[in-house]
Amino acid sequence: MTDVAEIRKTLEAHGQEHLLAFYDDLNEEQQDLLLNQLVAIDFDQIDDLSEQFVKHTPEVEIPSDLRPPETVPYGGGDQAEEARRRGEQLVAEGKVAAFTVAGGQGTRLGYEGPKGCFEATPVVNKPLFRLFAEKIRAAATRHRTTIPWYVMTSPINDTATKAHFRQNDYWGFSPKDVIFFEQGTMPAINYDGKLMLARPYRPATSPDGHGGSLTAMRKSGALDDMVDRGIEVISYFQVDNPLVNSIDATFIGLHDLAGAEMSAKALPKRHPLEKLGNFCVSDGTIHVIEYSDMPDNLAYATREDGRLKFSAGSIAIHIISREFVARLTEGGRCKLPWHRADKKVPYIDPETGEQVQPEQPNAVKLEMFVFDAMQMAEETVIYETRREEEFSPIKNADGADSPATSLHDQVRMWANWLERAGIEVPRDADGQVAAAIEISPLFADSADELAAKVDKSISISPGQSFYLGSRGQIGGSR
Ligand code: UD1
Repeated sequence: MTDVAEIRKTLEAHGQEHLLAFYDDLNEEQQDLLLNQLVAIDFDQIDDLSEQFVKHTPEVEIPSDLRPPETVPYGGGDQAEEARRRGEQLVAEGKVAAFTVAGGQGTRLGYEGPKGCFEATPVVNKPLFRLFAEKIRAAATRHRTTIPWYVMTSPINDTATKAHFRQNDYWGFSPKDVIFFEQGTMPAINYDGKLMLARPYRPATSPDGHGGSLTAMRKSGALDDMVDRGIEVISYFQVDNPLVNSIDATFIGLHDLAGAEMSAKALPKRHPLEKLGNFCVSDGTIHVIEYSDMPDNLAYATREDGRLKFSAGSIAIHIISREFVARLTEGGRCKLPWHRADKKVPYIDPETGEQVQPEQPNAVKLEMFVFDAMQMAEETVIYETRREEEFSPIKNADGADSPATSLHDQVRMWANWLERAGIEVPRDADGQVAAAIEISPLFADSADELAAKVDKSISISPGQSFYLGSRGQIGGSR
């Protein structure tokens, strides 16, 4: 039982006593709920963060000596064969886990519910979680091994995410090999340095950013679980990208051969201001400068041949060594920096009890970004990939990076694979694919695999919805 008098004293010492404004009107269960949440908040830390990030807006420090990083070319360059073999060996030995960060709020997409449940594919409308499950299962089958899948949720979507998996029999995964854990949260701080109540019994909090995944891995026991399973390498990706190559042997091998602690995939930005993190090097260390922090003069800077100087964009796909996570989170606290975002946070006015929906940003949310860990890695590999093969995220309801652009890119990729296998694909006068095409990752998850397996006599007619299922059977409809 948590003692309310104790907590009231702490709150008063930090000028946050309004958080108990409705305490006396709550039922016992709600009182407990509120007190348990309040004891979990580190008010000394809130004071510090409020001073640093709310009362002052910290200048984002951009090192003056930034240069573009060295990258490994698509395919792996000189090391291609060795890296692929090394990666395949690690996967086959059961040392690789998949990890999806799925704790975000998905506000921009405007989809109610966990983003992983969003139906994302062109013919079968597979939810993102199903697509990833199939990709990981396909890789496990290919390498005759088990690949556990860690899924990070947040208090916003944990229950709904787990229910989705249960209702769908874990999309063919063995339930013991899907490990959910919740990320931490951070209270929103208003411009006066006060925390807010979202409900009379609940402070306004939000997930602490995907950087929170590192501490959450340790606190939840996921890291220990990895030790028990003999996992050495974590293949990290976001929930929003249906094209992700979730287990890429070459990438894993390049990381391992370099003795890297954290590696990343990069691709050339479409234009200087594309909303991707920018890979840069300062003083021998990799920095990812978020698109919103990149000064225009650097974003537009060009090389002698006219290409962008900082063209390597981050697509948030990483290989992370388990021991690196253990090192960064020793003692339970992660040393990643905080980033400030100004948000409209609804709250209950402690004086009047009224719910307030602010029209302007009224508070600061603080998040950690996982890519900041790259600065702390002893060794890193930045590996170039191809957009058409690996990146078409679903972030916005329309426009760039939306369901429409992602469907288009998925169809285009699968159509290219079929054409490379010698199968004719209907195209319109502009060269656009004139059918809806989808291939199950359980049948083929690369152009080469498809070419090796597909029945070359199949035909696809214009306007057809064409699905190649897990055993190569043709589904879909006209
Ligand atoms: C992100 C990257 C950007 C990168 C781009 C590639 C950040 C800040 N920026 O941009 O550098 O180029 O993706 O697509 O991440 N998430 C959590 N918990 C959280 C917050 C987010 O799990 O507390 C997860 C989301 O579920 C999602 C991912 O992180 O899977 C990305 O989050 P989002 O805030 O949408 O990042 P972007 O601005 O799209």
